[in-house]
Amino acid sequence: MAASPTTPAEALSSSSSGIKYPDRQSIAGSASRNVPILVSELSPLVRPGCHILEIAAGHGLLTASLAKECSSVQDVSWEAREADEELVRKIGEQCAAMGVENVEARAWDVHDQYEERGDFDLVIIANLLHIVPYATVERLFEKLGSSLVKKEKGAKVCIYGAFNEEGRFTSEGNEKFDGILKARNPAYGLRDLESQIVPLAKANGLDLGEVRRLAAGNLLLIFERR
Ligand SMILES: C[S@@+](CC[C@H](N)C(=O)[O-])C[C@H]1O[C@@H](n2cnc3c(N)ncnc32)[C@H](O)[C@@H]1O
Repeated sequence: MAASPTTPAEALSSSSSGIKYPDRQSIAGSASRNVPILVSELSPLVRPGCHILEIAAGHGLLTASLAKECSSVQDVSWEAREADEELVRKIGEQCAAMGVENVEARAWDVHDQYEERGDFDLVIIANLLHIVPYATVERLFEKLGSSLVKKEKGAKVCIYGAFNEEGRFTSEGNEKFDGILKARNPAYGLRDLESQIVPLAKANGLDLGEVRRLAAGNLLLIFERR
């Protein structure tokens, strides 16, 4: 029987151990049961010649699954970044276990490391924005706009996770999730789509092209370089 999609609160309640930043973590890839849905949503965006970056890739299940699904697409290069070196190692293991050889995984903490540059056609971020302080969200968007996303109309940033909309929780589950996050760290919490994320993106050259409503109240936001 297929596993049901993970709700945010379920994901957070089954924390993994042995990682450097346990308060930033959820399960072994919080989107693990949502990965098939994300792969089917994201794979059509992977075009020949695409240079792709996944930020905060966790255990690398989405990275490896998406790279495997798109293995027949010509000349695609994949890079995965993650703050926790132990998880970077696990991304490598996950890729190897799935026979994926073209992913380069490295440690990068988007909170305080700014040397990272790139010229990516597609940037993927899943389940991160609620689990870092808002100042980090702001810096990340600045970085996306200034140097990570290709300065070519149509380059994309896909952000997946739980969000508030128009200043409100969209479900009881999301409200509970926000409470759990804030109990860990008052600087964490669900971000508001209209008052926080869309203006931040816009200020950094990215327009919201599409909002896809996926399982368990999660959103997939697709931004495009203006
Ligand atoms: C909730 S998990 C999501 C992992 C994966 N994207 C997924 O959806 O399964 C959040 C991930 O973000 C990473 N992370 C947290 N803060 C980070 C930061 N400042 N820079 C880079 N990665 C960070 C954590 O180590 C963790 O792997």
